Amino acid sequence: MYRKVMYVAVAALTLQIIGAAQLMCPSDPNCVCGGTLAVELNCNIDGRMVTINLLPNIYINIKCENASSLDYSKLPKCANEMSSFKSVSFKDCPLPSSSFKEVLSNIGVSKTMALIFQNAKNLSGYFDRKHFAGLDDLTKLLLSINGVTRLPDNLFVDINKLTWLNIRSNTISLSEELFKPLEKLETLEISHNHMTNISSNLFSHLSFLRKLSLWQSNVTWFSKDLFNGVDVLEELDLSSNGLNELPASIFKPLRKLKKLTLFSNKFSSLPNNLFKNNGELETVVILNNDVKLKELPKYLFGDLPNLRQIYIQRSGLETVPHDVFANSPLITNISLAYNDITTLPEDIFNDQINLLELDLSYNKITELKPKLFSSLVRLERLNLCHNSLVEISGQTFSSLLSLIDLEMEHNNLKTISSYLFSNNKQHMSISLAYNQLDFEGTELINDTWQINKISPFAETYNLKLLNLSHNEFKVSFKDWWVNGHENIDVSYNNITNPMPEDEITCPLNPVKKPMTHVWLSENPLSCECPTVYFVDLIQNDLNMKIVDDALGHCGILFFHGECYTKFYVIIILMLIASLIYLGITVYVVRNRPKINAFLKKRLGFIPFFGKRRQVKNAHKLNFKYCDKDEEFVRKEIFSVTQDKKPPKLIQEYLEQNRNERRCNSIEILTKVYGPPDTFKRTTIVIFSSNYLTTHYSHVDIKKIHSEMLKMENTIFVFVDNGSEDSIYAFLKEQRDVKKSIVWDENDFWDKLIIMISEGRASAKTFNLKKKNIEKFPSKPVKNTASDNELDSPTHSQV
Ligand SMILES: *[C@@H]1O[C@H](CO)[C@@H](O)[C@H](O)[C@H]1NC(C)=O
Ligand SMILES: *[C@@H]1O[C@H](CO)[C@@H](O)[C@H](O)[C@H]1NC(C)=O
Ligand SMILES: *[C@@H]1O[C@H](CO)[C@@H](O)[C@H](O)[C@H]1NC(C)=O
Ligand SMILES: *[C@@H]1O[C@H](CO)[C@@H](O)[C@H](O)[C@H]1NC(C)=O
Ligand SMILES: *[C@@H]1O[C@H](CO)[C@@H](O)[C@H](O)[C@H]1NC(C)=O
Ligand SMILES: *[C@@H]1O[C@H](CO)[C@@H](O)[C@H](O)[C@H]1NC(C)=O
Ligand SMILES: *[C@@H]1O[C@H](CO)[C@@H](O)[C@H](O)[C@H]1NC(C)=O
Ligand SMILES: *[C@@H]1O[C@H](CO)[C@@H](O)[C@H](O)[C@H]1NC(C)=O
Repeated sequence: MYRKVMYVAVAALTLQIIGAAQLMCPSDPNCVCGGTLAVELNCNIDGRMVTINLLPNIYINIKCENASSLDYSKLPKCANEMSSFKSVSFKDCPLPSSSFKEVLSNIGVSKTMALIFQNAKNLSGYFDRKHFAGLDDLTKLLLSINGVTRLPDNLFVDINKLTWLNIRSNTISLSEELFKPLEKLETLEISHNHMTNISSNLFSHLSFLRKLSLWQSNVTWFSKDLFNGVDVLEELDLSSNGLNELPASIFKPLRKLKKLTLFSNKFSSLPNNLFKNNGELETVVILNNDVKLKELPKYLFGDLPNLRQIYIQRSGLETVPHDVFANSPLITNISLAYNDITTLPEDIFNDQINLLELDLSYNKITELKPKLFSSLVRLERLNLCHNSLVEISGQTFSSLLSLIDLEMEHNNLKTISSYLFSNNKQHMSISLAYNQLDFEGTELINDTWQINKISPFAETYNLKLLNLSHNEFKVSFKDWWVNGHENIDVSYNNITNPMPEDEITCPLNPVKKPMTHVWLSENPLSCECPTVYFVDLIQNDLNMKIVDDALGHCGILFFHGECYTKFYVIIILMLIASLIYLGITVYVVRNRPKINAFLKKRLGFIPFFGKRRQVKNAHKLNFKYCDKDEEFVRKEIFSVTQDKKPPKLIQEYLEQNRNERRCNSIEILTKVYGPPDTFKRTTIVIFSSNYLTTHYSHVDIKKIHSEMLKMENTIFVFVDNGSEDSIYAFLKEQRDVKKSIVWDENDFWDKLIIMISEGRASAKTFNLKKKNIEKFPSKPVKNTASDNELDSPTHSQV
């Protein structure tokens, strides 16, 4: 619907523009007409260049170049018939000697709603009542002029329908009478002015005024009655004046005031009870106060039931009274950034239960009182950057249940108590860059000081960003890598070995989490095997990506083979082997006939030899299981002391690689005889109700079932481990027998291996007994999968 309307609107506008270019281009001997989107006329009037842009019924812009005088009657007629426009503007053109009404009639404008007259050069002549005579429909007027020192009192008498007036002029003095006729005025902006002395009744007749800006008007002093009569004012901007004080009751008449802006003034103090009568106040902005406003009056923002936003920045605040925000519970945003605050009273935010954003950055805060933030349960953003904080104690952030963004860069933080964020379950970004953190506390234990390494993030999961760059970490902590964060920046630290001391074991939420990005550069990382293991682990098992060039200093010799296969030994062995091979080849070539004869005689009886070559193929088995099943898997499934011990090959493997275990999976390389190119990796999932709850807690049963059926090269081993679970029971019942097996079955291992090799397994390879193989496979039970490989001729090969 909305789209249709858009299309129609666009089409209408396009037609209008095309129509404009075709129909409206007026012919005038002084002008050349062109333009694509709107009509553009370039005119030469008595040697003065004038450019006119127009869109019929919308706007006409007239721009003069080098015209200190202009004969307006020679301008071209821009509209065929007299038509009305939304706005007409003159840029850098001289004041007409006739009225604007006459000038407009001349160029074909019957009426306009808005008139803009801008001249950045020295204007010669003065405005006069006659200039605006006859513009009965004008509602908006902008005068941006230089060089006029006076506007006559009766200037606006004939345009009393104005609702919007903007006067920018550097040398204007405004009289009391000037605005009297403008009874309908809603917006008045006076800027770039020089009116040090402002008369107290200047605005008193403007009883509909909603918005008043005296921006940069060099008002240094106001009478306390200035706003008398301006009863409905909602927005007031007194920025960039030289104000150094405000009368205490100046805002008293402004009962509807919603927004007050006070940029760039020179207040050295603010009066007490300044906003006492401004119950509607929503926003207060005090920025760039040129004089140090050391403190705020007590209760300044107290008792304002509608107050939402307070910004007091770059004002030299040193202390803030404890009750400054008292009893104003709707405040959502507070910024006290760029001041000189050293400490905040503990109860200052006690009533701010709705606060969403608190910016205290760029101050000199040295400590945070434990209860300072205790009411801020809805706070989403907290900025404490560029302060002088040294320590954060345990209670400080415990109430910030909604926090999503915490910035604490550029402090002197050395200590952060542990479990700081354990209450917060949000997808948080935490930046602690540029501090002195190493998470190594010293603790007095039995009369000796001991180094105590505890990460405050041990119980913090799924952060969007953990930025610990530019600190003093010497070791990394396990939780950084396994708690499921999205971005981890630990660059610019002093970490040599990124593998935490208690070796990383299991990711806690391995369920298809998005790729994690890791920044690690500018650490003195060692180029030895532990680093290789680490890189391999986080990239392959934890789905992380090292974004920066963290290992660039290790050079091109840094690669994985070296650490995993005892690289050098192998190189030497290969060298020896190739020497021997070379020797044999030379010998064979020299004595070929003799050898042929010998082989025929000796080896002819081995059927294998000389016939089709069988290739040894590597087959990787990847056993996956969940944390809770770890013990069971170790003690039961891979136990060699039980009856059901795994086949010899797997036993041997486990024996050799007792300690090489990677995050809930064991990888086993076996050899299977079969046709070439059958290298395969099979995942064997130890599927229990524990596994189900860890990996699929939020997935519905049908999805799990179909996912299990779809998974390729995966075999599910159903193990009744963990609490009883009807979903588990159902999945076990409905399992696809071609892809799953129950641990309690007889001859478990034999059947599993046949499944793995899709029936091609060589009995010899796995030490199977012939009888077991013949018993297998059982007939497929009700299942939907369509592949029939298991029944294929493969097992006849066995
Ligand atoms: C405007 O006039 C000045 C001096 O009369 C001249 O130097 C300048 O080139 C003129 N600019 C244009 C755009 O005609
Ligand atoms: C404007 O006019 C005044 C007096 O006529 C003169 O002193 C001043 O230099 C002029 N300024 C500019 C920018 O032409
Ligand atoms: C404002 O007043 C100051 C000093 O009184 C003066 O230097 C400055 O030029 C004035 N600004 C304007 C726009 O008149
Ligand atoms: C401001 O106006 C008052 C009275 O109109 C006058 O007494 C005072 O001297 C004026 N101040 C300045 C700085 O012009
Ligand atoms: C107030 O804070 C909220 C939450 O951070 C933010 O979304 C909003 O833009 C802020 N409002 C203003 C006016 O800055
Ligand atoms: C401290 O010493 C006591 C008695 O010698 C001992 O029981 C306790 O375990 C020690 N504590 C630590 C943390 O070493
Ligand atoms: C971490 O903070 C530093 C310092 O502000 C910044 O340069 C870096 O980009 C941040 N890292 C990430 C990943 O955002
Ligand atoms: C890094 O750690 C080593 C010892 O572990 C220390 O000598 C060195 O000063 C540290 N460097 C920095 C920049 O902290």
